[in-house]
Amino acid sequence: PENIGILAVEIYFPKRYVNQTELEKYDGVSAGKYTIGLGQTNMGFCDDREDINSVALTAVHNLMEKYNISYNDVGRVEVGTETIIDKSKSVKTVLMQLFKDSENTDVEGIDTTNACYGGTSALFNAINWIESSSWDGRYAIVVAGDIAVYATGPARPTGGAGCVALLIGKDAPIVFDRGLRATHMEHAWDFYKPDLSSEFPEVDGHLSNECYLRALDICYNRYMTKLITKEKVENPTVKSFDYVLFHAPYCKLVQKSYGRLFYNDFIRNPDDSNFASVQQFKDISAEESFRSKDLEKAFITVSKPDYNKRVIPALLAATQIGNMYCASLYGSLASLLSNVPADELIGKRVGMFSYGSGLSSSFFSFQIKKSVADINKVLDIPNRLKSRLELAPKQFSEIMRLREETHGKKGFKPAGDDSSVKDTFFSGTYYLEEIDSKWRRSYKRT
Ligand code: ACO
Repeated sequence: PENIGILAVEIYFPKRYVNQTELEKYDGVSAGKYTIGLGQTNMGFCDDREDINSVALTAVHNLMEKYNISYNDVGRVEVGTETIIDKSKSVKTVLMQLFKDSENTDVEGIDTTNACYGGTSALFNAINWIESSSWDGRYAIVVAGDIAVYATGPARPTGGAGCVALLIGKDAPIVFDRGLRATHMEHAWDFYKPDLSSEFPEVDGHLSNECYLRALDICYNRYMTKLITKEKVENPTVKSFDYVLFHAPYCKLVQKSYGRLFYNDFIRNPDDSNFASVQQFKDISAEESFRSKDLEKAFITVSKPDYNKRVIPALLAATQIGNMYCASLYGSLASLLSNVPADELIGKRVGMFSYGSGLSSSFFSFQIKKSVADINKVLDIPNRLKSRLELAPKQFSEIMRLREETHGKKGFKPAGDDSSVKDTFFSGTYYLEEIDSKWRRSYKRT
């Protein structure tokens, strides 16, 4: 099969959000810490009526409905998530409820977990399946989603929630480049979730930033080497990509990362005339290059015009919703497709950097070969964001406390009656109705 890639995209995010300026005031931190320091505007969140099953059900059901896809035409479904509510039963098996009427149970794929990287692994599996002798001609669906919540403290404003569903197949408008994936994996304790009685991670935030940037360097240079050897591109630079999308825990890290790609280009080709203003960083050691704030600032400045043009359009979901863990990179993809007019995207090459703590990371790319106008129309992210509901930080904290109290509980119905459903959720959203005495979860759809 040729032109394997993405044929359809749907994103789900919560209807309710908290504003980061308000959160700064409520948390008593200095004004600008979350909005300028982290680059965040708003943060979406869920109450105890949403879990990973409900958000995945919503994303997949809406994907199938909005693009009018038959469940019989799907031969693989994979879920990437780190929101674990069951040590054995996968989210994928919960999604099989949606296939019931079609009687199609011949659907490969299961869940994949490693921090924010699971969705990327699921995507690679789906592409590989279509390229393999096991493929039977049907579509694959990749689901990448998480509810990202942190304990109170410096990491809390970097939470968020969302789920992206991708329809993968041949003859796609969004086509993955073959033979160019570059991966780096390593053992690190930057962020992990050993305490199964809590939704919160154990996180060393500053270490996680270091690990992220180091992994970015390795993956990017590996990718560039492949571009030179496999595609005979002579002097590839970050400008070989019309857009670059990143895993976006918070937008400031993305801006630093894009600057870091320019630094990597500079190290490969220091005499490039674009780098006249940063020659003082030529002989700095690799280790020092991560520590130097001057270097970071200088490359943010050098990359700024391109950052505005080639990165910002993809940061809509990241700045307005926050970190969606596995869905974060794919939320950036959805933002790009929704934010840039479809006819401007034809012929463009897009780089993707995926990072999951622990750690796993990849740099890969795709090209937009045909019109994505129908995807642009379905996603409609700017308008959907406008119809959200802002809650005060106090209400947000109360809801976070409620999630903590009900995490792992059985034999209960979440608070909130059916009359409040319309205010709480967008239409077409699944929500938890009950967890019975044997922890079996049942859902309703608005
Ligand atoms: N106005 C403007 N900028 C400010 C202000 C202010 N009032 N106050 C602080 N800042 C700046 C700081 O100078 C700093 O800038 P820098 O990054 O250029 O140095 C930035 O805001 C952050 O401030 P810190 O003091 O470093 O923040 P803190 O240590 O409190 O927390 C952190 C930040 C570590 C990112 C935390 O939010 C966290 O742990 N998040 C979760 C981990 C994470 O997302 N890691 C990323 C990769 S792994 C993953 O995806 C989970």
